[in-house]
Amino acid sequence: MTTLPTQEPAGMKGMQTVYDLPGLRERISAWRREGFSIAFVPTMGNLHGGHLSLLDRARQIADRTVVSIFVNPIQFGVGEDYARYPSTLAEDSRLLAGRGLDLLFAPDLAQLYPAGTDADTRVTVPELSSILCGKFRPGHFSGVATVVTKLLINVQPDVALFGEKDFQQYLVIRRVVADLCIPVEIIAMPIVREPDGLAMSSRNAYLSAAERKAAPLIYQTLQHAADRLRRGERNLASIEKDGWAALEKAGFRPEYFSVRRTEDLREPQPSDTRFSILTAAWLGGARLIDNVKVMIKGPE
Ligand code: PAJ
Repeated sequence: MTTLPTQEPAGMKGMQTVYDLPGLRERISAWRREGFSIAFVPTMGNLHGGHLSLLDRARQIADRTVVSIFVNPIQFGVGEDYARYPSTLAEDSRLLAGRGLDLLFAPDLAQLYPAGTDADTRVTVPELSSILCGKFRPGHFSGVATVVTKLLINVQPDVALFGEKDFQQYLVIRRVVADLCIPVEIIAMPIVREPDGLAMSSRNAYLSAAERKAAPLIYQTLQHAADRLRRGERNLASIEKDGWAALEKAGFRPEYFSVRRTEDLREPQPSDTRFSILTAAWLGGARLIDNVKVMIKGPE
């Protein structure tokens, strides 16, 4: 049997950008024929160091990398920031090309919502989507789960990477993939922070200079709560109440400040050893979220 000469790998030709599903599928099929493994990082653009850390890891684990940039309307609630969500495609594209990305998928609305955004097929993970952020953003996680499912079906990656800054989102996606038997490995990546501790986020741009100075308190408050847990304190209600009060006193408007078990974000049981402390709080016009993990020794 004669072997056909292999195509020059796309990575050596620089980044390619596709805007439609047929173009995406063509590139993916070509890579599959070549036997390349594929890693995928879905984003809404306005890229920062958090996104880029996902891409860097993706490049280490697969032969080819795909990033999508799509601001997904159905995961924004009425009155949320969909209309003002920063769109910086040209700058993002330069960043990604310089970072060694192979394929940027930047579809418009009609590609992913051919029947419009009112089409009522949705992917939902009811229980996990109704707590914490889900309680304050009804429909949000269903919007995320739906668009990520569409993307995974079309990119067909071996692995997809998600940041732990959106820890509840990561758990929702893991459940979708497990429950719908989607053949992809989901990898969680640590939170990337600014030097002062603030978790990097596109929404940090909504902060005024004074708010930006105050914003790192959210991480400090989480760390303080984590220290209390590590020191053996188990009055979770008191830890939650104090975290909330510290944020409120500094001018934040907290939505929740909760100690949960890491595996499924349910209320901790006495036997649990892995906790997550999670918070969402408004500061001026920015809704900030953050979380820290705490591991403790189980009962002897
Ligand atoms: P976006 O907010 O653009 O985030 C894209 C990915 O980057 C997510 O997995 C998110 O958790 C990760 N990320 C953001 N900030 C991070 C940080 N500081 N450190 C580490 N990772 C970080 O999350 C979304 O987009 C959307 O909901 C999406 C999954 C693309 C579906 O529309």
